[in-house]
Amino acid sequence: MSSKSNPVTERHFAYLAERTRQEDAFLRELKAAAAAAGIPGIWIAPEQASFLQILLRAAGARQVVEVGTLAGYSAIAMARALPADGRVRTIEIEPRHAAFAREWIARSDVAGRIEVLEGDARAVLPRLADGSADACFIDADKEGYGGYLDHCVRIVRRGGLVMADNAFAFGRLFERDSAEDSVLAIRAFNDRFARREELHGIIVPLGDGCWVAVRE
Ligand SMILES: C[S@@+](CC[C@H](N)C(=O)[O-])C[C@H]1O[C@@H](n2cnc3c(N)ncnc32)[C@H](O)[C@@H]1O
Repeated sequence: MSSKSNPVTERHFAYLAERTRQEDAFLRELKAAAAAAGIPGIWIAPEQASFLQILLRAAGARQVVEVGTLAGYSAIAMARALPADGRVRTIEIEPRHAAFAREWIARSDVAGRIEVLEGDARAVLPRLADGSADACFIDADKEGYGGYLDHCVRIVRRGGLVMADNAFAFGRLFERDSAEDSVLAIRAFNDRFARREELHGIIVPLGDGCWVAVRE
């Protein structure tokens, strides 16, 4: 038997997506309303949401910090994996996104489990206490990822989860001669993440590549 991984193709993604729990009508409506409101459709993929939910459940997570709310899609998905007294604190810099997310979170089945912290994550994260979260999910401006990682390692308790989206740099990770700031930032971030001794992590090929690590 070979220990070599097989390449994951679009067909594999479609295959696995068909074999995990689908998003519900509420999340589909949220996406349609966000698109109608001119909010960019850069939320996580449904199969990635399912994966995050499985991880949070397996870890028995109660307290989650998210960097990058957008329309509230991933915050709602993650909150659904928490117990009734669990909480997602999600940080959003753009007032229009925060307002939209608050409106849809209030209409969701997990309204009491999500708090939108409006502001720049660079200013909000330092206010969150050491070891106060069971999991962090980073999904905001790519140039900020390195600093957000340092805070998440501090905020997540030992044994908790540190997760980050877009490890494949929007599919452009291996693009030759890319001078795009966000692509360069993701490459540097991936190396930084891999070097952190307190993190036992791996990039999982779901969505645009999702970092998952246990904080040791
Ligand atoms: C990719 S979207 C988040 C998608 C969301 N996690 C989901 O899957 O539903 C990134 C969000 O991060 C926000 N953002 C960008 N820079 C930020 C910063 N410095 N602090 C907080 N939020 C930021 C953007 O306004 C945008 O709404």
